[in-house]
Amino acid sequence: MPRICVIPGDGVGPEVIDACLDVLFVLDLNIQFEKDIVGIQEFKKSGSYMTTETLDSAQNADAILFGTLTTPSDPAYVSPLLLLRWNLELYANVRPVKCLNPEFCMVPLDIVIIRENTEGLYGAVEREIDDKIITERVISQKACKRIIDFAFNYAVENNRKQVSCIHKANVLRASDEMFRNMFYGVGVNFAFYNKIRSNDYYVDAAAMHLVLNPENFDMIVTLNLYGDILSDEAAGLVGGLGFAPSANIGENNFLFEPVHGSAPDIAGKGIANPTAAILSASMMLDHLGFGDKADLIRETLVDIYADKENWTVDVGGKCGTKEFTSRLIKEIENKQASL
Ligand code: NAI
Ligand code: MG
Repeated sequence: MPRICVIPGDGVGPEVIDACLDVLFVLDLNIQFEKDIVGIQEFKKSGSYMTTETLDSAQNADAILFGTLTTPSDPAYVSPLLLLRWNLELYANVRPVKCLNPEFCMVPLDIVIIRENTEGLYGAVEREIDDKIITERVISQKACKRIIDFAFNYAVENNRKQVSCIHKANVLRASDEMFRNMFYGVGVNFAFYNKIRSNDYYVDAAAMHLVLNPENFDMIVTLNLYGDILSDEAAGLVGGLGFAPSANIGENNFLFEPVHGSAPDIAGKGIANPTAAILSASMMLDHLGFGDKADLIRETLVDIYADKENWTVDVGGKCGTKEFTSRLIKEIENKQASL
């Protein structure tokens, strides 16, 4: 039986993860869930934001279902999420962005952003010299090749037709240029054998084209910071961060989490949209071999959002987290009963 390490975290994390667990429960899956604590709650208890026991528990699980974290002002803080990404070598961050109802989307996007997840400005060394701070960014050939290979393989497996490389090679003419060259080196073979188109954009222009010419994009492969920024932008175009799920993929470990943070402005109010977390749990089900159940959740979400009465507060509706989740569960149960 697969064992899932569930880490709700801070802020709205526990609210949206509880919603996920309620949905997973009605699917009657043969899965074992174990909750672990990280973040501010753990710090108050043990003086550490994530204990080695939790890291081990996550490492030995078949998958990790992760909520959200609040970044405290403590200068010694290192995010447990970044520690998990680095320690478990979760090198590919897969972020599908899909419009569930054109009525609340600015743009009818259906794209997948593949973000390099281990290098770049995350975990960058910052040195203070006199009145300057120097930030060092690492971009390695190994990580570039690995994420580009991953993106093209994902395109083949998921029937995507085009991969766009997003970079800033006109300014970062060594590192980002290496990334772009590697992309075309790998991309030429893939394009030839698998009929996948490849092209590239500077990140600033890509940010504009996402809004004005969304049909230009199918899949994006990009470096860590650009992927972080573009995925929030893309989420904004389809209703907000409440709709953006993600998977962090490594060779042996897999972590699924909503793209959003702990949303302190709405935490505790019962109005967080659980859709991003529930879609992340669906990606986890795909990974565990329960693709039919994952499809059932995704199809039901589209059906639920077709009726304005079911809309969540972030898109102008009235349903809070619990109300939305119970409506979704009811609809899933109806569909399961008629199968
Ligand atoms: P955020 O993603 O928490 O919130 C940005 C905006 O989106 C807020 O207005 C929030 O209310 C809204 N929002 C986010 N999730 C939502 C949901 N499920 N339903 C409805 N509205 C939602 O980003 P912010 O405010 O910049 O950061 C807050 C905290 O989260 C910070 O401490 C930050 O460091 C942390 N953070 C953690 C992340 C993680 O755990 N993966 C990712 C991003 C930020
Ligand atoms: Mg982000």
